[in-house]
Amino acid sequence: MIETIQSCDLVIFGAKGDLAQRKLLPALYKLEECKKIHPETRIIGAGRANWTKEEYIKVVKTAIKKFLINKIDENIWNKLSARLYFLNLDIFKELCFIKLKKILNQTKNITIYYCAVPPSVFNTIFERLGKINLNLFPARIIIEKPLGVCLKTCKAINDQISKYFLESQIFRIDHYLGKESILNLLSLRFANSLFFNNWNNKIIDHVQITVSEQVGVENRWNYFDEMGQTKDMVQNHLLQILTIIAMDQPKNISPESIRNEKIKILRTLRSINIENVNVKTIRGQYTAGNIQGKKVPSYLEENGANLKSQTETFVCIKVDLKNDQWLGTPFYLRTGKRLAEKYSEIVIVFKKMPINLFKDHNDDLSRNKLIIRLDPNENIKIDFLKRISGLSETYQLKNERIQSNLLTNKHQNYIDAYERLLLAAMKGDQSFFVCREEVEEAWKWIDPIIEGWKKNKKSTLELYSAGTWGPKNANKIIMKDGRYWHKFD
Ligand code: BG6
Repeated sequence: MIETIQSCDLVIFGAKGDLAQRKLLPALYKLEECKKIHPETRIIGAGRANWTKEEYIKVVKTAIKKFLINKIDENIWNKLSARLYFLNLDIFKELCFIKLKKILNQTKNITIYYCAVPPSVFNTIFERLGKINLNLFPARIIIEKPLGVCLKTCKAINDQISKYFLESQIFRIDHYLGKESILNLLSLRFANSLFFNNWNNKIIDHVQITVSEQVGVENRWNYFDEMGQTKDMVQNHLLQILTIIAMDQPKNISPESIRNEKIKILRTLRSINIENVNVKTIRGQYTAGNIQGKKVPSYLEENGANLKSQTETFVCIKVDLKNDQWLGTPFYLRTGKRLAEKYSEIVIVFKKMPINLFKDHNDDLSRNKLIIRLDPNENIKIDFLKRISGLSETYQLKNERIQSNLLTNKHQNYIDAYERLLLAAMKGDQSFFVCREEVEEAWKWIDPIIEGWKKNKKSTLELYSAGTWGPKNANKIIMKDGRYWHKFD
């Protein structure tokens, strides 16, 4: 609804970078396509390139053509290109920010800064903006992970930004929160009494969260090697999913209420540290293998690799929550690069029936499952048992599945998470952005795991071939509890 969107000056620091080209520009094109951008909104690319406005427009068109799934429509492109400006800006030069101030229309438009740059230069940007009052409300600022590499460095970034911006001006992106299936978790859980009343350790046996990737480190070896899969994926995306699954009903659907409930969950995660890291986690690194019939190198053979690296490209963690609702119902998380398939899924596995009324024909009653697919094809499935139909009066049962697709309108294109989150930032809606406390609580839980791996002498990095489901022992974590991973289908 265009009326609710304010007119903005969207400044993209790092206009030439990968994030801007691959995600932000195609997302802006798609927002233009669905008429979600206010007519007066301008997009100002800022970076060290020496481009004229015309050259920048060409660069943007090339990026959109390359990364957009569909063909570019000239009418839409003309509308979008009319909004584009370019500022040659060196973040280390004060004068450049004075030039930026002259370009901005602060009386009419809300300024939104998107820091599509490495975190090492965040602070310089905050300081320069602050020095000439470009930070003042109602300006907004969007920052993206990695927000630090541990609690200490994360706090440092948060301290720096909070010197210049209020929490209500800060939009910390976790792109998983922009996925339809994640947004839909709130309605699934809190609009349906069927799920709401059955969402606890009495009814749910355990929860599985899998984010399986086929890509490797993609020319980001240095970045990735410092992070590893745990800091790159679990600290943010997987823990965000876990909190939305586990949180209590918020008072309302305001950003504050939702965030408060998520923070409570992060605080109830049972600590994993040097004492129990071997029982609760498995980490692995990929060796050479085959992905979709193509040979791929090992992690240590990737561009720029350090042969001694002990960084994990796969991790599996058993997470226990210490609150009444979830005590005894573990969450198993697993994520890795160069795995057999690209898919992300949440599986809620319900407890078995305490009594098997149908044991004459069915030795065992399998567990019901609620399966929430994030990628590919966002959908929800329910697995249940039904009688095999026919004249026989016996109860022979079989597994049945019902499925609901989350993108119900068949003309609706796949809405990229960035599109949704950029739109929310333009509206000033922080509901699906991460607040300071959340990101810090997540680091508080992650740090002792990483520390545990370093200090526990028995902790080893297990190898797995690219194109498989990770180290063999990853299954042990779940199997020793008498459970097994839901198979990808
Ligand atoms: C990013 C990570 O945040 O998420 C990448 O830095 C990862 O390493 C990517 O590949 C996965 O996102 P998606 O949406 O493709 O699952």
